[in-house]
Amino acid sequence: MIAISPSILSCDYSIMGNEVERMEDAGATWIHYDVMDGHFVPNITIGAPVLKSLRKNIKGVADVHLMISDPLKYAEDFAKAGADVITFHVESDSNPMDTIQKIRSLGCKVGISVKPKTPASEIFPYLDKVDLVLVMTVEPGFGGQSFMADMMPKVREIYDECKTQNFSVDIEVDGGINEINISEAAAAGANVFVSGSTIFKAKDAKEMITTLIERAEQAYIGK
Ligand code: DX5
Ligand code: ZN
Repeated sequence: MIAISPSILSCDYSIMGNEVERMEDAGATWIHYDVMDGHFVPNITIGAPVLKSLRKNIKGVADVHLMISDPLKYAEDFAKAGADVITFHVESDSNPMDTIQKIRSLGCKVGISVKPKTPASEIFPYLDKVDLVLVMTVEPGFGGQSFMADMMPKVREIYDECKTQNFSVDIEVDGGINEINISEAAAAGANVFVSGSTIFKAKDAKEMITTLIERAEQAYIGK
């Protein structure tokens, strides 16, 4: 499965519902909802109440990325607001196993994320317990940053471990993804691609998403 997940961090928040519908009309099947608490990352965005009202505009997968210090405490709010996937950071203050179990108990799919400086081995103990791994290809906190190509060996390491162990885990990359570098990310083993500024700044979002999907499908190692 190849999915493009436009990050609403780059959208016009004054017309958020329209922006989400525009993305899905353009071919997006996931919507990436970036939550930042101003503590885990040096930026503050939006929380569960906004997702609750935005959820009616999302037909596809509500892909919630918690860049917060205490995901264990807030997971339930996002599940109740309509999250389909809740991804937390292994570097957060919450115990990873407790957080995985909590998100699972809420009926959501579980994602675990690693910042650029965190080695893949940090999440190996959880690969058989999660549905998705999110590899940051920028320092979390802001959209519009440049893609960190040196994260590709980490993507490939996670892909190989999942293949060897026969774990069926989606691998999502997040940060600076565009129509050029998506091929190397797919070739390394990623199958879900977050993209904010590239898609929201594109003249034609449908053309851009179509190109992103085509290139990812062509290059994806896991055919
Ligand atoms: C950064 C966020 C990303 C970001 C992606 O902390 O997690 O989802 O919004 O935006 P671009 O594609 O512009 O890097
Ligand atoms: Zn994100």
